[in-house]
Amino acid sequence: MSEPPSIQVAIVTLDDGTLGLCDHVQVPTLEEDMIIVKNHVVALNPIDTKMVGKLATPGAIAGMDFAGEVISIGSNVQTATPIKPGGRVCGAVPGMHALTPAVGGFAQYVGAADLTTLKIPEHMSLEEAVTLGSGIGTIGLALFKSLDVPGSPKSPAATPMDVLVYGGSTATGTLAIQLLKLSGFNPITTCSPKNFELVRSFGATQVFDYHQDTVTDDIRVYTRKSLKNVLDCYTALEPYPDFLHTRPQTIQDLLDDGQLKSHPHEIIGDDLGGILQGLAMLKEKRVSGKKLVCRV
Ligand SMILES: NC(=O)c1ccc[n+]([C@@H]2O[C@H](COP(=O)([O-])OP(=O)(O)OC[C@H]3O[C@@H](n4cnc5c(N)ncnc54)[C@H](OP(=O)(O)O)[C@@H]3O)[C@@H](O)[C@H]2O)c1
Repeated sequence: MSEPPSIQVAIVTLDDGTLGLCDHVQVPTLEEDMIIVKNHVVALNPIDTKMVGKLATPGAIAGMDFAGEVISIGSNVQTATPIKPGGRVCGAVPGMHALTPAVGGFAQYVGAADLTTLKIPEHMSLEEAVTLGSGIGTIGLALFKSLDVPGSPKSPAATPMDVLVYGGSTATGTLAIQLLKLSGFNPITTCSPKNFELVRSFGATQVFDYHQDTVTDDIRVYTRKSLKNVLDCYTALEPYPDFLHTRPQTIQDLLDDGQLKSHPHEIIGDDLGGILQGLAMLKEKRVSGKKLVCRV
């Protein structure tokens, strides 16, 4: 196994609570359940724009979603399928965390926890894989723990009932639609008309325009007032990668079998500096139906 450097370039919280590029940031020290990853691509999430000001920890590395190449592996690492140095992996880390300031996605080297790291299947590019990280953990928890829908990809529901995904064209929405479909449900959803085709391509069986005043009534009529489960991907989600602690194997199998597609992405830059421009686009709500990714 090769040794990573001790110092790297990363995007960190500055003393005034904003984010900035810093060229002397500590590389995480390898722990027994950790994989050090040489980062190749990162994905940007709305939360990356929210942890600013008083919520931010000065000096902590920002960013969650990463994809890259395994550099070194802790002595007690357990992943869903074996990994080795040089192999390609993706996942999510808790960026900007006060307790683990050296761990964050917007860096040249990432200290990834084994249980939130997935091996990238051959058929998937790094740019596609990086869109999955925190979304998979969050949607998995929301559907199968919080909502507790009566079915899963390993054990699909016997009766295909409707489940509404509010915000189907969000990055988390297209994952929710796919996981519901694989779990034996009819995912119905809302988004802007320009994204109707997109959500249908991920498996939505019916789409409604949330801008229409009649949207609530339209959904009631379609579901004959029998809708029991709603997942709000726009306002209600907060990241919870710990879900992967319970079902990493399931997700790895779905990826390996090509059953999970990645959200459409747009490459916004070829170095860490591009991230700051991408975050501005997210903050101004200029992102629709795609995930911003940036090469490192
Ligand atoms: N991405 C993740 O991995 C992740 C993880 C944890 C938590 N979250 C949380 O989940 C939420 C969504 O994140 P995301 O990354 O999935 O979002 P995203 O892909 O960046 O969201 C963009 C989409 O939001 C939709 N949208 C805008 N205004 C809306 C409204 N008023 N009602 C419904 N939809 C609206 C737009 O749909 P149209 O253009 O079709 O109108 C657009 O396609 C955020 O609160 C985020 O913090 C995300």
